[in-house]
Amino acid sequence: MPALVSPRYATAAERRRQARSAFLLLAAAALLAGCSNFPSRHPPIWLWPDMKKQDKFKPQMSTTQFPDGRSSRRPVQGTVSRESYRPDAPFATGVNADNTYVARNPLPLNKETLLHGQARFDVYCAPCHDRTGSGRGVVPAKAVWVPGNMHDDRIVNFVDGEIFHVISNGRRTMPGYRFQIPEKDRWAIVAYVRALQRSWRGTMNDVPADLQSKVR
Ligand code: HEC
Repeated sequence: MPALVSPRYATAAERRRQARSAFLLLAAAALLAGCSNFPSRHPPIWLWPDMKKQDKFKPQMSTTQFPDGRSSRRPVQGTVSRESYRPDAPFATGVNADNTYVARNPLPLNKETLLHGQARFDVYCAPCHDRTGSGRGVVPAKAVWVPGNMHDDRIVNFVDGEIFHVISNGRRTMPGYRFQIPEKDRWAIVAYVRALQRSWRGTMNDVPADLQSKVR
């Protein structure tokens, strides 16, 4: 019997090359497996559906589960969402049921309300309207729009509800602040705006007699 041909073992260098190719192949496969979202009109190939594919309804999907074929259900009749439930609409909007502005601030007009309104005004309004309400705040100094001067006759003659409405919904170039400022705080700001307007128009006769000598 002739001696068996001794098997040829791969040299160390060949083994390293083989290992490298195998690794590159695996790496390429692993990378490509992640590419399920090429910009293409065809649906992607799902190798591993993971959690991307689930049994669930997306908005506006159709279904055979309900007789009207819609997956989106209407709220039960008469439902009022918690976000839009306002038992006292004039307080919440500054507008009465007959579409006129609320004439007078519903908050008690006392020192507490005014101090609270001042604090809120200085936070939310003063950056644009400045602390006196004249409209020369630090923000408009760098902008192209001009805030109204709250001491103009036109604005002084607003009823309280209109100021509340402007704060809530904005007007022309002013943004609304109903999402930032709670209703009660907005009414407190209205009270403080009234105080600012009153003080701007004050005369010497408004100063108590015993303090008049101190006014400069
Ligand atoms: C981002 C800047 C900015 C802030 C903050 C701001 N305003 Fe204004 N406001 C304006 C501008 C701008 C106008 C002028 C709108 C116009 O006439 O185009 C204006 C106008 C007004 C007017 C007059 C509306 C009219 O009919 O002319 C009132 C009242 C007013 N703001 C109150 C407030 C109060 C109160 C606050 C605080 C809650 C406030 N604003 C916060 C920018 C601002």
